[in-house]
Amino acid sequence: MKTKITKAVIPAAGFGTRLLPGTKAQPKEMLVVLDKPVIQYVVEEAVQSGITDILIIISEGKEVLKTHFRPDEALEKLLEEKGKHKELEAIRSLNHLANIQYVYQHEQKGLGDAVLCAEKFVGDKPFAVLLGDTIIEAVKPLTLQLAEVYELIENPVVSLQEVPLVIAHRYGVFVGDKVKERLFSGTELIEKPPVGKSPSNLVFSGRYVLTPDIFEALRHTKPGVNNEIQLTDAIRMLMAHRKVYGWAFDGKRHDVGNKLDFIKTNVLFGLKNKEIGEELREWLRLEL
Ligand code: UTP
Repeated sequence: MKTKITKAVIPAAGFGTRLLPGTKAQPKEMLVVLDKPVIQYVVEEAVQSGITDILIIISEGKEVLKTHFRPDEALEKLLEEKGKHKELEAIRSLNHLANIQYVYQHEQKGLGDAVLCAEKFVGDKPFAVLLGDTIIEAVKPLTLQLAEVYELIENPVVSLQEVPLVIAHRYGVFVGDKVKERLFSGTELIEKPPVGKSPSNLVFSGRYVLTPDIFEALRHTKPGVNNEIQLTDAIRMLMAHRKVYGWAFDGKRHDVGNKLDFIKTNVLFGLKNKEIGEELREWLRLEL
């Protein structure tokens, strides 16, 4: 499982406007899916992929993200005294997941700008990016899949999923030539094309392995769609001097930053849960 990719950047500084007012004081990355905040699923995927150093990009007011991964001696003591061993283990496991650092993105200028905040942390090695509001379900952790692909191609690689063409305009769209099963060599990348104008149904799905030259590209990236500095635009710039690949993974993406997927993800995870799954299924059957 050891690959060259040991650092990961998790952007989690956005306003989460699609879930307002719910996300006014409560970061969307801290919304609970079943029994864990979204950010914990993301950090766990990174750790399971061999990542040892993580930088979470936060904004003012989102300090609770730090609190979640910080040891809490009083809580541990209380759980110990009450004999709540399962809960104690769950809390303690957070203390040593990885070396987690934080940096502030002071103005929410877009995902590309958030990644630019990680330049010092990243240094001169390739690194992973995992969106802090997106849970991926896959047999092999998706970041590990990308890291392994990187070992072969030594160029940036983004995770892709197939969606119905009619909704592709909601995403970053990847146009490319198939190199082998699941692997595509990019020819054009478009962030949220106009409705009905997407040239491909392969879309970005929230995980990336990038090379440090992305930072120079980001510095030259002008605000794009929604007046935001788009990571997709910077990755497209890289294509002028190197190849960019896409990896169409086998698994599911849950973008918890919108209402429908947030609810769906909770229901799906609930149905799979041993403790509540059966009762939830029965309740849904009766309610619907
Ligand atoms: P999104 O575009 O889904 O997040 O970015 P958003 O801007 O918070 O969402 P809406 O559209 O207003 O509802 C994906 C990830 O990138 C982070 C977000 O926190 C999220 O985890 N992000 C986005 C930043 O860190 N900084 C930004 O400026 C924008």
